Amino acid sequence: MTKQIKYKLIGSLNIKGDKSISHRSLILSSLAIGKAKISNLLESEDIFSTIKVLRSLGINIEKKSSQWIVIGNGTNGYMQPEQTLDCGNSGTTARLMMGAVCSNPIFCTFTGDKSLNKRPMTRVTDFLEKAGAEVTLTNKNYFPLTVNGSDEILPLIYTITKPSAQVKSALILAALNTMGKTTIIEKRKTRDHTEILLKYLDVKFQTKLINKRANKYIFEGPYEIKSKNIYVAGDPSSAAFFIVAALITPNSKITLKNVCLNKTRIEYINVLKKMGARIKIKKEKNKAGEVTGSVKVEYSNLKGVAIPGKLSPYLIDEYPILSIAASVAKGVTRMNGLSELKYKESDRIKSIFENLKKLKINCKVVNDNIIIKGSNKRPNGKVTIKTQHDHRIYAAFKTFELICNHKLKFDDQDCINISYPEFHKHLDSLKIENDN
Ligand code: S3P
Repeated sequence: MTKQIKYKLIGSLNIKGDKSISHRSLILSSLAIGKAKISNLLESEDIFSTIKVLRSLGINIEKKSSQWIVIGNGTNGYMQPEQTLDCGNSGTTARLMMGAVCSNPIFCTFTGDKSLNKRPMTRVTDFLEKAGAEVTLTNKNYFPLTVNGSDEILPLIYTITKPSAQVKSALILAALNTMGKTTIIEKRKTRDHTEILLKYLDVKFQTKLINKRANKYIFEGPYEIKSKNIYVAGDPSSAAFFIVAALITPNSKITLKNVCLNKTRIEYINVLKKMGARIKIKKEKNKAGEVTGSVKVEYSNLKGVAIPGKLSPYLIDEYPILSIAASVAKGVTRMNGLSELKYKESDRIKSIFENLKKLKINCKVVNDNIIIKGSNKRPNGKVTIKTQHDHRIYAAFKTFELICNHKLKFDDQDCINISYPEFHKHLDSLKIENDN
């Protein structure tokens, strides 16, 4: 068993481009007309899946020095692909691209890796079928599937009951090439990067607040969008791992720069503050419509907290790392209303529970709620973390390793490349041996 050296985390880090915004920058630039230069695009496997799919649809995408150049063909400009559109591990590529292709008269076959082929797709395809696309699914819900698109997609009124930015974005992308008025109602607001980027690209559509939690969008297509250069703000979900790393590792003090501070994405910072975290946010520049800034974090004594289910759409990618904060906090943390966590890159309720159990952390799953009792005891035996090839499970438990007496074993390290290939390099750049 390799002993774990005790480190503290000191210094600052420039967070890499946001995954959600990177996908949208590429897709919206492909639907615009002309040349877009994208800076700070996340270069990870998920984003390469979107690039590959767009190239198969006839879009020219090249990297020139540090920028990515996309030549858009317009909202009706995708070509008949010759090959299957392989979305790899990426749910966002899958869901958004089904929406984008359905209003083009092309026949597409979509597939993904083992994990993606187990994730539900009718949440998007049911809507697309109503509007006139022909869809054939495997086992009525899954990839591989085919979409026979049409340039006569109907302008409908859609009501999304399950909160999902991927579903909303798929419908918005379909609406961009739909003749007439498409109305999209989301009963619970979700991340709004598609809408923000469309506004930045001067696309005119209406947003109406139905109540504090629900939105209505009206699009009148088809649209002609002019390409614009895009700077991708840093990923707050990747920042979350470094933030919790500093909070739980004694004597740490770090600053993360260029973090996207979109309100739909940084709810976890409010939760951590309620747990006693010493975090300071400073808003700085706006980048392609998104507020960005820096986040200062210091080691803190955390305490347990109750996290209500109504916050789950805004914390959905952060539950793995919040579980780590909860495991170190004094007292009990309750995370409620996590049903959607089962449908992510792995069943994250199971992945969190099983790995915490191996680390001897007191964790219970009751219905769709996770209850964790924090502890300052660390395992002494050999522990192997089962990642289920889930990048966020890997990064969360790699963060926990910082405060373990021995190094943890991981059944798969490569999954980190899905969202943050520089994760180890960035974490190492902050580590200083802690001798006091
Ligand atoms: C994403 C939306 C969320 C999130 C995913 C990225 C997006 O999924 O979990 O990592 O970019 O729109 P849902 O739309 O399924 O909630």
